[in-house]
Amino acid sequence: MRMPNSSLACIALLTFLASPPLTADEAANHEGAAKYRHHTMHAIGGHMQAIADILRRHVPHTDHLPIHAGALAALAEITPTLFPPGSGGPNTEALPAIWENPEDFAKRVSAFREAAANLNDVVGVGGALGPAVKRVGQACKGCHDDYRAE
Ligand code: HEC
Repeated sequence: MRMPNSSLACIALLTFLASPPLTADEAANHEGAAKYRHHTMHAIGGHMQAIADILRRHVPHTDHLPIHAGALAALAEITPTLFPPGSGGPNTEALPAIWENPEDFAKRVSAFREAAANLNDVVGVGGALGPAVKRVGQACKGCHDDYRAE
């Protein structure tokens, strides 16, 4: 059966609407999302390093631990929003696998959120910090190994 030309035109239009080219605004949004991700990851890294500095006794600021652990736990909570589709690309270290394996990626994010929340709790009750910090470090690595370019 031949399709009438109007149906073909309709299909072509629907295909176009389903994958419109990026507007300048959308491209700027993706670049903005990637920059924001870099800055937020640097903040996460900074709090981790500050915690390590305190635990290695490079500074005497044990009273700062709740501040860094609290910030880390809060930043872990917003991690799921840092990877909108389209925000990868050659200028970022975010690998396409993030958007190809969303379920597995979500598990890595959850592991990080749970580890950071646990560290914050342990700091709160004055528990053993070593294992709690190690668990957070493993969550960082657990995601970077598969989803961040070297
Ligand atoms: C769920 C995945 C995931 C977790 C968990 C994670 N990261 Fe990242 N991180 C990434 C990705 C992906 C990038 C690359 C981002 C980009 O280039 O757009 C990155 C980038 C970074 C960067 C470089 C920032 C830049 O772009 O210059 C630092 C520093 C960093 N992460 C530290 C950490 C630390 C420390 C932890 C744990 C406390 C952590 N990350 C947890 C995925 C993760």
